[in-house]
Amino acid sequence: MMNAPAIFSQPRYDITPGVELTLLKPYEAAQVGVMFASIDPWARYPFTAAQLTSFFAQVEPGAPRFAIRVDGNLEGGLIVRTNWFRGPYIHMLALAPGVQGRAIGSAVMGFIEKEARRAGERNLWVAASDFNEGAVRFYTRHGFTHVAVLPDLVRDGRTEILLRKQLTAAAGKSIL
Ligand SMILES: CC(C)(COP(=O)(O)OP(=O)(O)OC[C@H]1O[C@@H](n2cnc3c(N)ncnc32)[C@H](O)[C@@H]1OP(=O)(O)O)[C@@H](O)C(=O)NCCC(=O)NCCS
Repeated sequence: MMNAPAIFSQPRYDITPGVELTLLKPYEAAQVGVMFASIDPWARYPFTAAQLTSFFAQVEPGAPRFAIRVDGNLEGGLIVRTNWFRGPYIHMLALAPGVQGRAIGSAVMGFIEKEARRAGERNLWVAASDFNEGAVRFYTRHGFTHVAVLPDLVRDGRTEILLRKQLTAAAGKSIL
Protein backbone atom coordinates (compact mmCIF):
# COMPACT_ATOMS: atom_id res chain seq x y z
CA MET A 1 0.00 0.00 0.00
CA MET A 2 1.27 3.45 -0.85
CA ASN A 3 1.73 5.93 1.96
CA ALA A 4 -0.39 9.09 1.75
CA PRO A 5 1.71 12.15 0.93
CA ALA A 6 2.74 14.29 3.89
CA ILE A 7 0.49 17.33 4.18
CA PHE A 8 1.01 20.66 5.94
CA SER A 9 4.63 19.58 6.25
CA GLN A 10 6.38 22.48 4.51
CA PRO A 11 7.77 25.48 6.39
CA ARG A 12 6.05 27.88 3.98
CA TYR A 13 3.10 27.92 1.59
CA ASP A 14 2.08 30.64 -0.85
CA ILE A 15 -1.70 30.96 -0.67
CA THR A 16 -2.50 33.93 -2.92
CA PRO A 17 -0.37 36.91 -3.95
CA GLY A 18 0.58 38.65 -0.70
CA VAL A 19 -0.75 35.85 1.54
CA GLU A 20 1.43 33.06 2.86
CA LEU A 21 1.58 30.53 5.65
CA THR A 22 4.87 30.24 7.49
CA LEU A 23 5.66 27.75 10.22
CA LEU A 24 5.38 29.70 13.46
CA LYS A 25 8.72 30.66 15.00
CA PRO A 26 8.95 30.33 18.80
CA TYR A 27 9.22 34.11 19.24
CA GLU A 28 6.08 34.65 17.14
CA ALA A 29 3.87 32.56 19.46
CA ALA A 30 3.43 35.51 21.85
CA GLN A 31 2.33 37.78 19.01
CA VAL A 32 -0.30 35.28 17.91
CA GLY A 33 -1.32 34.60 21.51
CA VAL A 34 -1.98 38.29 22.16
CA MET A 35 -3.93 38.59 18.90
CA PHE A 36 -6.18 35.57 19.58
CA ALA A 37 -6.83 36.67 23.19
CA SER A 38 -8.17 39.98 21.92
CA ILE A 39 -10.75 38.56 19.49
CA ASP A 40 -13.85 36.41 19.84
CA PRO A 41 -14.43 33.59 20.46
CA TRP A 42 -11.28 33.43 22.63
CA ALA A 43 -11.83 36.84 24.27
CA ARG A 44 -15.32 35.78 25.28
CA TYR A 45 -14.35 32.53 27.01
CA PRO A 46 -11.92 34.08 28.05
CA PHE A 47 -8.53 32.63 27.24
CA THR A 48 -5.56 34.71 28.30
CA ALA A 49 -2.75 35.77 26.01
CA ALA A 50 -0.39 33.64 28.14
CA GLN A 51 -2.54 30.52 27.72
CA LEU A 52 -2.83 31.02 23.97
CA THR A 53 0.86 31.84 23.61
CA SER A 54 1.80 28.66 25.40
CA PHE A 55 -0.57 26.64 23.20
CA PHE A 56 0.86 28.13 20.00
CA ALA A 57 4.41 27.59 21.29
CA GLN A 58 3.92 23.86 21.80
CA VAL A 59 5.56 21.58 19.28
CA GLU A 60 3.14 18.76 18.56
CA PRO A 61 3.84 16.19 15.87
CA GLY A 62 0.85 16.19 13.51
CA ALA A 63 -0.40 19.61 14.58
CA PRO A 64 1.76 22.26 12.94
CA ARG A 65 1.33 25.89 13.94
CA PHE A 66 1.40 28.46 11.14
CA ALA A 67 1.48 32.22 10.99
CA ILE A 68 -0.77 33.74 8.34
CA ARG A 69 1.22 36.55 6.76
CA VAL A 70 -0.34 39.30 4.69
CA ASP A 71 2.12 41.46 2.76
CA GLY A 72 4.79 40.04 5.04
CA ASN A 73 3.05 41.00 8.29
CA LEU A 74 1.86 38.46 10.83
CA GLU A 75 -1.93 38.84 10.63
CA GLY A 76 -3.28 35.50 11.80
CA GLY A 77 -2.70 31.98 13.01
CA LEU A 78 -3.61 28.46 11.99
CA ILE A 79 -3.28 25.10 13.73
CA VAL A 80 -4.30 21.98 11.84
CA ARG A 81 -4.45 18.47 13.28
CA THR A 82 -3.43 16.74 10.12
CA ASN A 83 -4.87 13.31 10.88
CA TRP A 84 -7.83 13.71 13.21
CA PHE A 85 -10.73 11.52 12.10
CA ARG A 86 -10.38 10.32 8.53
CA GLY A 87 -9.19 13.81 7.71
CA PRO A 88 -7.72 16.97 9.22
CA TYR A 89 -9.26 19.05 12.02
CA ILE A 90 -8.86 22.81 11.90
CA HIS A 91 -8.05 23.47 15.53
CA MET A 92 -7.37 27.21 15.38
CA LEU A 93 -7.96 29.74 12.63
CA ALA A 94 -8.14 33.48 13.02
CA LEU A 95 -7.20 36.66 11.24
CA ALA A 96 -6.57 40.04 12.81
CA PRO A 97 -9.70 42.24 12.60
CA GLY A 98 -7.98 44.62 10.16
CA VAL A 99 -7.71 41.92 7.48
CA GLN A 100 -10.97 40.05 8.07
CA GLY A 101 -13.63 40.06 5.37
CA ARG A 102 -11.11 40.27 2.51
CA ALA A 103 -11.41 36.63 1.39
CA ILE A 104 -8.10 35.70 3.02
CA GLY A 105 -9.83 33.15 5.25
CA SER A 106 -11.51 31.70 2.18
CA ALA A 107 -8.16 31.36 0.43
CA VAL A 108 -6.64 29.63 3.49
CA MET A 109 -9.66 27.31 3.62
CA GLY A 110 -9.21 26.49 -0.07
CA PHE A 111 -5.58 25.59 0.62
CA ILE A 112 -6.51 23.38 3.59
CA GLU A 113 -9.04 21.51 1.46
CA LYS A 114 -6.56 21.10 -1.39
CA GLU A 115 -3.97 19.63 0.98
CA ALA A 116 -6.52 17.22 2.46
CA ARG A 117 -7.65 16.11 -1.00
CA ARG A 118 -4.04 15.66 -2.09
CA ALA A 119 -3.65 13.03 0.64
CA GLY A 120 -6.92 11.37 -0.35
CA GLU A 121 -8.59 12.38 2.90
CA ARG A 122 -12.36 11.88 3.17
CA ASN A 123 -13.24 14.71 5.55
CA LEU A 124 -12.40 18.11 6.97
CA TRP A 125 -13.46 18.97 10.52
CA VAL A 126 -13.83 22.12 12.57
CA ALA A 127 -15.64 23.23 15.72
CA ALA A 128 -17.08 26.67 16.32
CA SER A 129 -18.71 28.24 19.36
CA ASP A 130 -22.46 28.47 18.92
CA PHE A 131 -22.33 32.24 19.50
CA ASN A 132 -19.75 32.67 16.74
CA GLU A 133 -22.31 33.17 14.00
CA GLY A 134 -19.82 34.72 11.58
CA ALA A 135 -17.56 31.68 11.73
CA VAL A 136 -20.47 29.23 11.41
CA ARG A 137 -21.65 31.16 8.34
CA PHE A 138 -18.11 31.13 6.95
CA TYR A 139 -17.73 27.35 7.33
CA THR A 140 -21.24 26.65 6.05
CA ARG A 141 -20.53 28.70 2.95
CA HIS A 142 -17.45 26.53 2.46
CA GLY A 143 -19.51 23.37 2.41
CA PHE A 144 -19.39 22.29 6.06
CA THR A 145 -22.51 20.94 7.72
CA HIS A 146 -23.40 20.66 11.40
CA VAL A 147 -22.84 17.13 12.67
CA ALA A 148 -22.98 17.53 16.43
CA VAL A 149 -23.75 19.92 19.22
CA LEU A 150 -21.22 19.65 22.05
CA PRO A 151 -22.42 21.30 25.26
CA ASP A 152 -19.90 22.15 28.01
CA LEU A 153 -16.95 21.07 25.85
CA VAL A 154 -14.65 24.02 26.53
CA ARG A 155 -16.44 25.61 29.49
CA ASP A 156 -19.55 24.82 31.52
CA GLY A 157 -22.52 26.53 29.94
CA ARG A 158 -20.82 27.06 26.57
CA THR A 159 -21.69 25.04 23.48
CA GLU A 160 -19.57 24.12 20.48
CA ILE A 161 -20.84 23.03 17.08
CA LEU A 162 -18.87 20.31 15.31
CA LEU A 163 -18.86 20.79 11.54
CA ARG A 164 -17.75 18.39 8.84
CA LYS A 165 -17.04 18.74 5.16
CA GLN A 166 -17.15 15.50 3.21
CA LEU A 167 -14.53 15.38 0.50
CA THR A 168 -15.78 12.23 -1.17
CA ALA A 169 -18.08 11.65 -4.11
CA ALA A 170 -20.76 10.67 -1.62
CA ALA A 171 -20.80 14.21 -0.23
CA GLY A 172 -24.30 15.61 -0.15
CA LYS A 173 -26.01 12.26 -0.66
CA SER A 174 -28.51 11.27 1.98
CA ILE A 175 -27.50 8.46 4.30
CA LEU A 176 -31.16 7.47 4.81
C1 LIG B 1 -13.68 33.39 10.32
C2 LIG B 1 -12.51 34.02 9.54
C3 LIG B 1 -11.28 33.11 9.61
C4 LIG B 1 -12.96 34.16 8.07
O1 LIG B 1 -11.90 34.73 7.32
P1 LIG B 1 -12.19 36.06 6.45
O2 LIG B 1 -11.03 36.31 5.59
O3 LIG B 1 -12.63 37.15 7.37
O4 LIG B 1 -13.47 35.59 5.63
P2 LIG B 1 -13.73 35.84 4.07
O5 LIG B 1 -13.50 37.27 3.74
O6 LIG B 1 -13.03 34.81 3.29
O7 LIG B 1 -15.27 35.51 4.04
C5 LIG B 1 -16.18 36.42 4.66
C6 LIG B 1 -17.15 35.63 5.46
O8 LIG B 1 -16.55 35.15 6.66
C7 LIG B 1 -17.48 35.26 7.73
N1 LIG B 1 -16.92 36.11 8.79
C8 LIG B 1 -16.77 35.69 10.04
N2 LIG B 1 -16.27 36.64 10.81
C9 LIG B 1 -16.07 37.72 10.03
C10 LIG B 1 -15.57 39.02 10.24
N3 LIG B 1 -15.17 39.43 11.45
N4 LIG B 1 -15.49 39.87 9.20
C11 LIG B 1 -15.92 39.49 7.99
N5 LIG B 1 -16.39 38.25 7.72
C12 LIG B 1 -16.48 37.38 8.72
C13 LIG B 1 -18.76 35.75 7.15
O9 LIG B 1 -19.50 34.59 6.76
C14 LIG B 1 -18.33 36.49 5.92
O10 LIG B 1 -19.29 36.48 4.93
P3 LIG B 1 -20.46 37.57 4.99
O11 LIG B 1 -19.81 38.91 5.09
O12 LIG B 1 -21.20 37.39 3.71
O13 LIG B 1 -21.28 37.23 6.17
C15 LIG B 1 -12.15 35.44 10.09
O14 LIG B 1 -13.23 36.33 9.87
C16 LIG B 1 -11.79 35.45 11.54
O15 LIG B 1 -10.64 35.29 11.90
N6 LIG B 1 -12.78 35.68 12.44
C17 LIG B 1 -12.54 35.78 13.87
C18 LIG B 1 -12.01 34.51 14.50
C19 LIG B 1 -12.91 33.32 14.29
O16 LIG B 1 -14.10 33.38 14.53
N7 LIG B 1 -12.30 32.21 13.86
C20 LIG B 1 -12.98 30.95 13.67
C21 LIG B 1 -12.99 30.24 14.97
S1 LIG B 1 -13.74 28.64 14.82
